[in-house]
Amino acid sequence: MINPEDLLEFIKNRRSIRSFQDKKVPDNEIQMILEAGRWAPSASNKQPWEFYLIRDKEILKEISKNALYGSHIKRAPFAIAIVGKKTTSPNYYIQDTSLVSMTMMLMAWSLGIGTCWIGSMNREKAKEILGLTENDYLLTVLPMGYIKGNIPKPTLRAALDQIKKEI
Ligand SMILES: Cc1cc2nc3c(=O)[nH]c(=O)nc-3n(C[C@H](O)[C@H](O)[C@H](O)COP(=O)(O)O)c2cc1C
Repeated sequence: MINPEDLLEFIKNRRSIRSFQDKKVPDNEIQMILEAGRWAPSASNKQPWEFYLIRDKEILKEISKNALYGSHIKRAPFAIAIVGKKTTSPNYYIQDTSLVSMTMMLMAWSLGIGTCWIGSMNREKAKEILGLTENDYLLTVLPMGYIKGNIPKPTLRAALDQIKKEI
């Protein structure tokens, strides 16, 4: 088991990373990130997802062009697109794939690999670039790479007493 205080610190220290080293990430580390995603929980354990590993620079560039706040995608050595399968779990594919994304981001962070959820993309255009079908929901494309420069300062969070309600 992981020490709970270490885990909380780890969760608090994770940052979205938008700057990557031009350095190859070994396959075994990529595998660990994918594996972490595979072990995410899902409603009725339906696992309504597929993961697309994108290393092709042209594809990264094209997706980047179609993401308003995603210019860093083109600078990443690789990205993982997380795709929900709508018919496999019509009511939960978004929740399930969101959990995949979080587990992958945490696994990546533990390896010193930075990533950042990209939501601001033209999903239809990005789906077309990736050759996805009607049944596919493109949750996000996570650009990934070893962190370049300083880790950004912690982003603000609302205080717990503002958001915690006791009833
Ligand atoms: C659903 C979602 C969509 C996001 N979309 C983008 C995006 O398009 N571009 C970007 O640079 N960051 C994006 N982010 C990252 C957030 O800006 C970031 O998580 C937030 O500012 C908190 O910073 P932190 O992750 O470093 O704690 C997104 C995050 C989430 C959860």
